[in-house]
Amino acid sequence: MLKIKGNYFILETKNTSLVIKSQETFAEYLYYGPKLSDYTGLELLAPEDYGWTAPRLVFAQWGYNDFREPSVHVRFQDGSDKTDFRFHKGKIVARETPKELPYSYGEDKCLKLEFVDATAKLKLTLCYTAYYDSDVITSYATLHNSAKKSVYIENLASLCFETWGKDFNFITFDGAWGSERQKHVRPIGTLGKCVNESFTGSSSPMHNPFVMLERTGEVYAFNLVYSGNHREVCDGDEYNRTRMITGINPFSFNWELAPAQDFNTPEAVMAYAPTQEEVSLRMHRFVSEHIIRGKWKKKERPVLVNNWEGTYFDFTKDKILAIAQTAANVGAELFVLDDGWFGKRDDDFRSLGDWVDHVEKTGGIDKLADSIRAMGLKFGIWVEPEMVNEDSDLYRKHPEYAMKIPRREPTRMRNQIMLNLADPQVQGYVYRAIARVIETCKAQYIKWDYNRHMTDCYDRSTRGGEYYHRYIMGLYAVLEKLTARFPNVLFESCASGGCRFDLGMLCYMPQTWTSDNSDARERIAIQSGTAHAYPQNTMGAHVSACPNHQTGNTNSLEARFRVACGGVLGYECDLTKMTEEELAQITEQIEFYKKYRTALQFGEYHRLGNAFGGEVCGYISVAQNQETAVAVVTVLHKRTGIFNYRMAFTGLDDNAQYRVLERGAKGGLKEICVASGSLLNRGAIRLQDILSETDARENSNPIYTKMYVFERVSGKKSR
Ligand code: GLA
Repeated sequence: MLKIKGNYFILETKNTSLVIKSQETFAEYLYYGPKLSDYTGLELLAPEDYGWTAPRLVFAQWGYNDFREPSVHVRFQDGSDKTDFRFHKGKIVARETPKELPYSYGEDKCLKLEFVDATAKLKLTLCYTAYYDSDVITSYATLHNSAKKSVYIENLASLCFETWGKDFNFITFDGAWGSERQKHVRPIGTLGKCVNESFTGSSSPMHNPFVMLERTGEVYAFNLVYSGNHREVCDGDEYNRTRMITGINPFSFNWELAPAQDFNTPEAVMAYAPTQEEVSLRMHRFVSEHIIRGKWKKKERPVLVNNWEGTYFDFTKDKILAIAQTAANVGAELFVLDDGWFGKRDDDFRSLGDWVDHVEKTGGIDKLADSIRAMGLKFGIWVEPEMVNEDSDLYRKHPEYAMKIPRREPTRMRNQIMLNLADPQVQGYVYRAIARVIETCKAQYIKWDYNRHMTDCYDRSTRGGEYYHRYIMGLYAVLEKLTARFPNVLFESCASGGCRFDLGMLCYMPQTWTSDNSDARERIAIQSGTAHAYPQNTMGAHVSACPNHQTGNTNSLEARFRVACGGVLGYECDLTKMTEEELAQITEQIEFYKKYRTALQFGEYHRLGNAFGGEVCGYISVAQNQETAVAVVTVLHKRTGIFNYRMAFTGLDDNAQYRVLERGAKGGLKEICVASGSLLNRGAIRLQDILSETDARENSNPIYTKMYVFERVSGKKSR
């Protein structure tokens, strides 16, 4: 809900209010917090004085006595960089988002605040949208040049937010390949400035764009609808304010804004809530309702079997058919043919770019796909469209399509270089090649991979400082066209696992392969970190073979399944090597998953315990109508002499009673009691015999798990 009262601009969501006040020259944040029922007396929130140092600015320009990170920084042709944007007007208008980037959707009005630099003839517009249902506010900036000369944007953030106090922790989700989105906490009071950013050309496994500022009883959370280099800066200053800036990383960024042109930033997302738990629920609601789009938005996601860890490159048509037949027998719904099906792709040295059949291996993907469909499965296929190997027909024919700097040796990663998606001709090639793959095998699912970071950025017709952003716009243009042409295909994004898990990719692809690390123990922290910002139906989670290929850890099949139920379930192993007993177990697991799939994929997800160094952790996923819930609790480190492992659940209806069922070590459910939701939500429930529940003693570095189902038996529905 948006309101203008004189020079006050009020944005309301179900549980929060944001108040901005315009002055003659600038605009400032007066309030962002729990919803106000009455706005009388807002002047009490103003700062003590109105020098340039005092207010909490909605944008920060350079050239004044504020030496913190600016959110707007423009270079003029005479070499100067001072702007003088002054408040011009604020209005509520129909929301029409720019076309070159993905934006959230679902609200038809926005608040636009305009600021004009009359001397430079520049107009800066901040566009705010309030998502009532999910308690999220978004913002992006547009710079328009009305002068006769170009200006050069060195930095234009999507959001600049400021609040009083420096007593915050800055919470980020960092890692590496195989250990993405591990939670870290830094106090900013003494550190001054804290930065979270990526330089890899993508949102990166090192630092996800989702960050939080937390102090007792208050959490501000921020994210970015963008898949490229990003930067989040929080800066505590001598006036006891904290500024938070998020947007495109100004590193290697310099954008020529020609006369009469606009530059639009990606959209930033912010939420305020009393707890991190509540932030997650609000972010999940926002992602589910206003980011994910298309046919799969609310549709249950199929249980898949993927052959990658089962075969790697070493497969034949018969092998694939045998795995697929076993997948069909155990009740899977989708078979995904991973890397190795095209060109001469028998290893990772060649053929990226040649999206034509490796017929000796597949016997023809069209026929293979038909045979798999005849087994009652959907068919999906892996592609890595943004890349090329130098040993490929594409590279031999079109070396100019590759991302390379003339006269310099390119940096190779996984033996590959990138395609120059900043070039519309290359975008056209990628679009046509992938459309042909989808049409040839009538793919119902695409795994879109991206297996290196970006270097050697160069394009003859692109200014250097514009390259990274133009690449991402090129990628989005291809995805926009492909997803529009194939609206029924389920796309899953992947980047060496979860190296590009962000809201930009989720606008096109409702799922992301969370991590190449499929070890159940490691997955707990990765999935728990990811779930701070992204709902469980966005996270691909697979059961793989043991000893685990990434860590060597061994866990029971049941423990692996329980952890994988925290996302969209799949199996990634050679099912033909499983024993009859294991296959029977998997059949039962898939049946169980399908029965509780609505709760697991679309329920409210709550983290339990602490996956980051805590001893007991897990998750509970509660169906939106609170009729059913599924919980998994894990003890990570068995220690002798420690008993009484306990856990309180959360998210169940306080006014209902639930039948509590426990899954056995090899599947099956056994009723253990009926208990009230309020007791289950608060009591420290004993995890009876958790250490002997699994066949853990036979395994190396195992986890110890319990899985419960809650089914409402009485109590009037509160939702
Ligand atoms: C990446 C992906 C894997 C697999 C391989 C294939 O590493 O993350 O899941 O698809 O590529 O080469």
